[in-house]
Amino acid sequence: MKILVTGGAGFIGSAVIRHIITNTHDSVVNLDKLTYAGNLENLIEVSNSERYAFEQVDICNRAELDRVFATHKPDAVMHLAAESHVDRSIDGPAEFIQTNIVGTYNLLEAARAYWNELNTERKTAFKFHHISTDEVYGDLPHPSDSVECLVVSDESKENVECSMLSGELKESDECLVLSGELKDQSLITQHSQLNTAEAPLPLFTETTAYAPSSPYSASKASSDHLVRAWLRTYGFPTLITNCSNNYGPYHFPEKLIPLVILNALEGKPLPIYGKGDQIRDWLYVEDHARALYKVVTEGEVGETYNIGGHNEKTNLEVVQTICKILDELAPMSSSSTSLNTKHSTLNTEETLNTEEQLNAQHSKLITYVSDRPGHDRRYAIDASKIERELGWKPQETFESGIRKTVQWYLDNQDWVSNVQSGVYQNWISQQYGGE
Ligand SMILES: NC(=O)c1ccc[n+]([C@@H]2O[C@H](COP(=O)([O-])OP(=O)(O)OC[C@H]3O[C@@H](n4cnc5c(N)ncnc54)[C@H](O)[C@@H]3O)[C@@H](O)[C@H]2O)c1
Repeated sequence: MKILVTGGAGFIGSAVIRHIITNTHDSVVNLDKLTYAGNLENLIEVSNSERYAFEQVDICNRAELDRVFATHKPDAVMHLAAESHVDRSIDGPAEFIQTNIVGTYNLLEAARAYWNELNTERKTAFKFHHISTDEVYGDLPHPSDSVECLVVSDESKENVECSMLSGELKESDECLVLSGELKDQSLITQHSQLNTAEAPLPLFTETTAYAPSSPYSASKASSDHLVRAWLRTYGFPTLITNCSNNYGPYHFPEKLIPLVILNALEGKPLPIYGKGDQIRDWLYVEDHARALYKVVTEGEVGETYNIGGHNEKTNLEVVQTICKILDELAPMSSSSTSLNTKHSTLNTEETLNTEEQLNAQHSKLITYVSDRPGHDRRYAIDASKIERELGWKPQETFESGIRKTVQWYLDNQDWVSNVQSGVYQNWISQQYGGE
């Protein structure tokens, strides 16, 4: 099988390609524009394979897409190319509309024109897999929203006005009153918190209504709609996956986890938006890559699969965990806890006396900054469908995955400095004569 992967030089796309080349007999064509986020160094371990080819192409360029389909004749498309950073989308949404919406439209049309000309056998087997995000669903109730959970156990249930309630109240149902109130206070028989074992917080499922908050998530939601419409209107064989936040090796340092690791190593401030209580459901990128390959090879056309790691953590918990691992793997001297001073050493052999160690916690670098607009408070995925139907489960816990990730950044300082200095882009120009 030959798979056309768009955005294969990015964080997740490169993990997908490394997975396919290393663990299967399939071939890959990597189609990538190589924006600031695309880095061919992410693929060095597989790019010599005869089963790997690279095309530097913008998905907004229809003629070039047609050429790539005609030249490589793929059996499936995995579409990951996108502008992917929420903060950048707030500063400048135009590029997000162009790549994520117009680019996806172009790719759908180029792929459909190619698919229309395939013989019946190849046409029937063809799949277009669109890779999307859980951010299209907006955000979910947060534990701190749990003002009151009122258990009502009276016959006169129609007296209750609950804005969060859907369906009918049954005896001893929890009534999640976030706004609205009971007309007859005598109905209240018990108060408890929202986030109890009896009333777990809701999760995103494949049927959760779309409610994107930022230009990024709105552009991804829009592309999901296009993909579904191409299935419904033209019978074009599409599948969609919506995944939670990824982390792991080769993550571009503008995103939270690599940013925190690298800033901590340099003794720089570790910025936390607001109170740091935003909850994300973290998934190790290699688990995501395995899930995506399973979906493109075994998933059912027309279906959507949510992918998540069952790892709900607040941003503050994530940052504190990284700090603790760094305290152990790359201890800093007390002098480097002052902001903007250089991290003393990466040498784990260095011994600090107890007092120094106490003073030298990376968590002292945590700095709170104003929250950004359009910042969702909680995401969490119900990934039971992909587990039930395709037998996929994450292999890493957050604790094991984050330790591997921190270790990877410690072991790959050359990759980091090439990304930070922009050297990787010079290399691309020399290699391909591109931008
Ligand atoms: N990172 C996450 O946590 C996450 C979670 C769920 C879903 N996703 C989705 O997965 C996909 C990949 O995310 P990522 O984190 O690897 O992103 P990334 O920013 O690391 O990589 C995106 C890649 O797309 C390429 N690209 C951008 N514009 C292009 C264009 N016009 N034409 C061709 N290539 C172009 C870039 O050069 C880059 O290699 C995205 O669609 C994103 O929405 C990401």
